[in-house]
Amino acid sequence: MKQLLVVLVLAGVCRGQSRLGTYNVDPAALSVSGLSSGAAFATQFQVAHSEEVMGVGLLAGAPYYCAKGNLMTAVDACMKYPQSINLSNLHLYTQQSVKSGTVDPVCNMASARVFIFSGTKDTVVVPGVVKKLEEYYRAYVAAPGAIATVYDIPAHHGFPTDRYGGACGSPNSDYINNCNYNAAYELLEHIYGGLQKPPTSHVAQGQLTLFDQAEFFKLAPAPTYGMDTAGYVYVPPPCHIGARCRLHIAFHGCLQQRGILADRYAKTTGYNEVADLNNLIILYPQAKKTLTNPNGCWDWWGYSSYAYATKNGYQVTGVHRMIRRVLGTY
Ligand SMILES: *[C@@H]1O[C@H](CO)[C@@H](O)[C@H](O)[C@H]1NC(C)=O
Repeated sequence: MKQLLVVLVLAGVCRGQSRLGTYNVDPAALSVSGLSSGAAFATQFQVAHSEEVMGVGLLAGAPYYCAKGNLMTAVDACMKYPQSINLSNLHLYTQQSVKSGTVDPVCNMASARVFIFSGTKDTVVVPGVVKKLEEYYRAYVAAPGAIATVYDIPAHHGFPTDRYGGACGSPNSDYINNCNYNAAYELLEHIYGGLQKPPTSHVAQGQLTLFDQAEFFKLAPAPTYGMDTAGYVYVPPPCHIGARCRLHIAFHGCLQQRGILADRYAKTTGYNEVADLNNLIILYPQAKKTLTNPNGCWDWWGYSSYAYATKNGYQVTGVHRMIRRVLGTY
């Protein structure tokens, strides 16, 4: 009887979506990263919660609030025409949001670690847009060397890896590119420093599991906020049994959500192998396609609400609840 119970419990954990767990993580070592719309969202999350987020890794992303709530601005200026981006307006919005308390004071960004990547062959979010993102951060980040930029890899739009994906300089529908460049390691190393780099032969040792996301997004009718009912979490074995670990959140790009790539973004971008050797827990929250968001992008133009780029945004709120769960306060 006892054995049967154990089997049933294990089956419940292995199948389907389990509850996101609480782990022994350092609250002062929280960081986020993303590709494309995921990078724009990572920026929004970091600016909104700069008191809590000490580092960001941004691949092919636009500046904070670049789209200003407008889809046309998102696909035009914020992807292709950097000369049309007026940073003064974005700084103004940032300051107004600080005043209204919907984003944390910008002084918190002074000590942030920022990693920014743009491939020389990226024609989807052109390098000029990414350089505007760098310029945006330079207004707030003080420490010399705190912002690292990589602008010399001949990569097309996608997540650069050192072992998986399509040809580095060509478009491919997964947006994961084999560039002989381990972006996951490089960005995490810039953020944390002193990490062990996994050899290309390293196979991830921990568990990648689905967790129930719906419990974090009971905020409005589901189609409004564009989130899937489940996300992925990667937990290296030592973090499972109580070792002190660090939490990193990785946001996929458009057309890379679970509904399209299943677990490929969470499995092949290279984060998990770095996580193994450095006791990092990686959370991969998942967006979903909806009528107003047909490509399953993270909200960086306002499809979920006008407050999308602040602490009041549905997606920002939901992801923040996930962090609190991992820390044990939600
Ligand atoms: C940029 O925005 C600021 C503030 O709204 C405005 O004063 C300035 O004229 C704008 N610059 C350009 C080139 O449009």
